[in-house]
Amino acid sequence: MNRVTRLLSIQYPIIQGGMGNISNAKLAAAVSEAGGLGTIGCGTMSGEQVEEIILQTKELTDKPFALNIAINVSPNVDKLIELAIKHDIPVISLSAGNPTPFISKLHEHEKVVLAIVATVKHAIKAEKAGADMLVTEGYEAAGINSPYELTTFTLVPQVAQKVNVPVIAAGGIGDGKGLAAALMLGAEGVQIGTRFIATKEAPFHENYKEQLIRASGTDTVIIGRSFGRIRRVLNSSYIQELIEQEKIGVSLQDYGKFTSEKHHVLGAIKGDLSSGFLNSGQVVGLINDIPSVKDLIEDMIKTANNRMQVGATLLESIAQTN
Ligand SMILES: Cc1cc2nc3c(=O)[nH]c(=O)nc-3n(C[C@H](O)[C@H](O)[C@H](O)COP(=O)(O)O)c2cc1C
Repeated sequence: MNRVTRLLSIQYPIIQGGMGNISNAKLAAAVSEAGGLGTIGCGTMSGEQVEEIILQTKELTDKPFALNIAINVSPNVDKLIELAIKHDIPVISLSAGNPTPFISKLHEHEKVVLAIVATVKHAIKAEKAGADMLVTEGYEAAGINSPYELTTFTLVPQVAQKVNVPVIAAGGIGDGKGLAAALMLGAEGVQIGTRFIATKEAPFHENYKEQLIRASGTDTVIIGRSFGRIRRVLNSSYIQELIEQEKIGVSLQDYGKFTSEKHHVLGAIKGDLSSGFLNSGQVVGLINDIPSVKDLIEDMIKTANNRMQVGATLLESIAQTN
């Protein structure tokens, strides 16, 4: 047990990151059932839509799961917080905005609050505001990222040395080696998005999973730099068209239409790659198969243990030869 598993009442310190608008009960429940923490990503969904997914998830698992509320993305933040309270969801992750105004209310209802941060400054601010854990996300991650573009490898230790609450590493982790590395950098757990999409239980379109298997680490691109609103996606003809539009000065309004949740759902759920897009992190280059969530998590734990022993043995032999 560590602080993360204790606070979240889970077996392994592995969190499935929220995936706004394409989140669903099946994946979240599978992760929680396998000993991690599943998350329902609310995105721009209505309270009614989210409530239905909460009820479905509760049918599939009696283990804890989380609700991710993307503050500046959702038009329904207050309603979603009410829902979390009503349905006794124990963990709330707050991303894409300032978590401060919401933390005390969540604490009044004994929620564990995770704040997603991408700089040391925001980490310190979120800790001062009362966040119980900080998910520090590097910009190798899939989806909306911070314009500061810090990598997980540099961000995690910088945050870990400045805060006292547990740090969860996110961005670029897809196997047990990544988990071991994150722990060595000072994290006490990991949050994973991309790798969980290519699992048996993830009910996304087969085209999405196939694209992830086929892609290498150089097949993701950042869009939205011209607006300071960056997002990491899988390269495609749809995305190339958007990049061309950005070059010739597409308006923020049209950029917003191109990258709207409608087109996200078209890509990820309908598998329509000519008018939809797919979020993906750079870790995609590691994905070669579609395991069950349980097998993936168990393999991560086993491999992480093994890598740590290999590392310790290596250091011992270096010490002996010196
Ligand atoms: C399809 C998809 C949608 C995502 N949507 C959200 C979201 O709504 N809110 C959020 O905080 N993070 C979102 N993320 C980020 C993940 O929660 C997670 O932090 C990230 O994927 C970790 O990096 P990785 O992809 O390298 O594993 C999304 C990621 C993916 C793959």
